[in-house]
Amino acid sequence: MIKVGHDLTDAEITARYDAFRGELSMRSYFYPAVAEFIGDVNGKRVLDAGCGPGYLLAELRRRNPNAELYGLEMSAENVRSARERLGREAYIVQGSLANAPDLPPSSFDLVILTEVIEHLKAPEEAICHLKPLLRAGGEFIITFPNGAAWLPFSWPAAALAPHIRALRGFLPHEHPLRTEQPIDTVFSQREVLALFKRTGLCVTRRACRETFPYALEFLYKFARLTNPPRVWHVLDHAASRLGWTALGYRVFVRCRPG
Ligand SMILES: C[S@@+](CC[C@H](N)C(=O)[O-])C[C@H]1O[C@@H](n2cnc3c(N)ncnc32)[C@H](O)[C@@H]1O
Repeated sequence: MIKVGHDLTDAEITARYDAFRGELSMRSYFYPAVAEFIGDVNGKRVLDAGCGPGYLLAELRRRNPNAELYGLEMSAENVRSARERLGREAYIVQGSLANAPDLPPSSFDLVILTEVIEHLKAPEEAICHLKPLLRAGGEFIITFPNGAAWLPFSWPAAALAPHIRALRGFLPHEHPLRTEQPIDTVFSQREVLALFKRTGLCVTRRACRETFPYALEFLYKFARLTNPPRVWHVLDHAASRLGWTALGYRVFVRCRPG
């Protein structure tokens, strides 16, 4: 675990997200891949907590015309962008995960957190605040970056990157030498799974994407790819099936309160 070390107030954190002006997004393969992992949510009530500019909600709406979609987001710029993107297709609430205002308790079939855990100062507290929103039998879908997937290269890279800038490409994007976002913690998969256990979440399914991220980084840079090539999806599926999700940089988890 690496603490990124931004010692920011909530207002400062919000201002940093606002500075991205609703443009915060992952590689474009990511949202369809998460929607595929989630599966059919028609007829269900779904909350995307920390929804950013609403890319995942838009993908879910495209695939699930009869789902009831909600977004919760702290940054006013992201809220504006999500509302523009979704119009009446989703109900977007501005607020923090720590208090989840204006959301009906015990009513959601799914609460989703994509790439949010690592941004939170108190992730365990946030999960505990979100749990009461689930109806009986409701589940969480959580995705997070697994910093340990960059090992062993990230060890020497971290030591040398302050002097040799090019080596920053061997560090996870959340690393303090690499990120401009107000990230709080670079977690390994093992640490996040332990965190879920402490909050009473029981993992029922796991998958990963972007296996061998340091190798992918070469392709992004030198072959100018904007998404993993097709062969990587085969690798990702194989690693997921074999339970080797520790090799993947993006880990997808389905879990339920135990
Ligand atoms: C990396 S972005 C991910 C956005 C979106 N989930 C996605 O996958 O595109 C992290 C998001 O979490 C939001 N966020 C961070 N801390 C939050 C909090 N305490 N309450 C609500 N949203 C928060 C940020 O504003 C930002 O939009």
